[in-house]
Amino acid sequence: MRMCSIENRPRRTERRCRIAASICAGLFLTLPGFGQVYLPQPPVTQPSDYGKVVLSNHAVTGPGPVVFDHWLHRARFTCRLCHVDIGFAMQANATGVSATSNRQGFHCGACHDGKRLFNGKPIFAACSDDTNGKDCDRCHSLDKPGARKYDYNTFTAELPKDTFYGVDWIAAEKEGKIKPVDFLEGISVKTAPMEARKDFSIKARLSWVHPIVFSHEKHAIWNGCELCHPEIFPTARKESVEFSMFLNIEGRYCGACHGKVAFPLNHCSACHPQGPLWVP
Ligand code: HEC
Ligand code: HEC
Ligand code: HEC
Ligand code: HEC
Ligand code: HEC
Ligand code: HEC
Repeated sequence: MRMCSIENRPRRTERRCRIAASICAGLFLTLPGFGQVYLPQPPVTQPSDYGKVVLSNHAVTGPGPVVFDHWLHRARFTCRLCHVDIGFAMQANATGVSATSNRQGFHCGACHDGKRLFNGKPIFAACSDDTNGKDCDRCHSLDKPGARKYDYNTFTAELPKDTFYGVDWIAAEKEGKIKPVDFLEGISVKTAPMEARKDFSIKARLSWVHPIVFSHEKHAIWNGCELCHPEIFPTARKESVEFSMFLNIEGRYCGACHGKVAFPLNHCSACHPQGPLWVP
């Protein structure tokens, strides 16, 4: 680029330079990875399917695959409660949920035991020996329309929306429309709240990308500390992680949540509010 910026260059060379530069830029942006990823794209899934997990390890022996929706559960509980206290893996089908573990009060059965109350009503039981099994299909619901009570549109009707993928969860929490529970009697252990850390910025490796602002405070509302430290961000020392947008897209670092359950990576401006450096 520097070559092209030398002044008093003959007109023709300058034009050639410009054409070459735009071809380069064009190539750069159309490279399979770069083009797909660095350019804003429409959301990949319907908002109602965003964060949907189909549990199917026992698809053959059980009453069919189970559909778990994040939108329904995250409106009521924090990520930390399920992924740290109850211990669900952050990867589909990696936890090894079974009818037995549920009946013993682990996994889904930590809440779905027919006894624990939510809003004053017992939460329907998972994999009970109830032989008429009226609630089985509420979870074992893949390809069984009408089996479930809640649907996305009715459930989220009152919640603020985000243009990229449905509910704007940050706003919903801030406006008090949802109050995710962070403690489960008999499962969570009361600990003194960790001191919130300051917001900080992550310097991008490319000089034309503004630093990325990361808010510890806003993340801790949902994730506590343990969801990120030490597993996703191994050390608690700043600037020890080699961030990159490609690793995010592969599902590492920020991409462990963003793109699966938290807002997707094509919402560039949420993390890069100033855009690239050429945007004033
Ligand atoms: C009610 C419990 C619950 C809550 C609350 C919850 N999750 Fe999950 N999450 C699960 C379960 C169950 C799975 C699937 C695990 C399995 O299949 O082994 C899962 C899977 C995931 C996955 C992997 C998805 C995939 O497609 O591989 C991510 C990422 C994730 N959760 C992030 C979050 C984040 C971020 C939050 C908070 C905004 C959150 N979860 C809230 C229970 C929960
Ligand atoms: C932290 C507590 C908690 C955990 C853990 C949990 N749930 Fe739930 N779940 C709830 C509550 C509360 C409701 C709402 C129940 C109601 O209103 O009847 C609910 C509702 C549901 C519904 C909606 C049913 C319908 O008819 O629309 C499904 C499906 C469901 N859960 C599946 C699961 C599965 C599968 C798991 C385990 C992978 C799981 N849940 C783990 C608390 C939990
Ligand atoms: C709250 C959600 C929920 C409800 C309600 C539920 N299950 Fe399950 N069940 C699960 C999950 C999650 C799995 C693991 C699915 C997988 O990985 O294939 C499972 C697995 C099973 C399995 C697989 C075999 C095994 O040994 O693990 C059987 C059998 C089963 N459930 C029976 C039932 C019956 C019968 C009912 C109704 C009385 C029922 N379940 C209701 C969540 C539920
Ligand atoms: C969840 C937050 C998040 C979202 C959403 C996001 N980025 Fe990034 N991005 C980052 C972080 C963190 C870095 C810092 C990587 C580093 O150190 O260079 C980064 C770095 C970059 C870089 C510098 C090159 C690199 O790989 O480090 C480019 C270019 C970039 N992002 C473009 C985009 C574009 C275009 C989008 C939308 C399609 C986007 N980003 C969406 C968090 C995000
Ligand atoms: C969503 C993920 C996430 C959550 C949740 C989170 N952190 Fe961090 N934390 C980070 C990242 C990313 C860094 C920077 C790592 C790097 O640059 O190498 C970091 C850095 C740190 C550092 C070193 C930098 C500093 O500010 O001194 C400390 C200490 C820390 N976190 C503590 C905490 C505590 C305490 C909590 C809970 C209140 C928490 N973190 C919650 C992602 C998270
Ligand atoms: C453990 C899961 C997790 C990880 C890892 C994570 N986030 Fe988030 N982040 C969330 C959740 C949950 C929210 C709430 C909004 C939502 O769910 O869409 C959020 C919200 C945000 C917001 C909006 C908050 C605001 O300031 O208004 C930004 C920006 C953000 N994340 C950037 C990042 C960046 C950059 C990284 C990587 C350094 C990162 N996140 C890593 C879960 C995560």
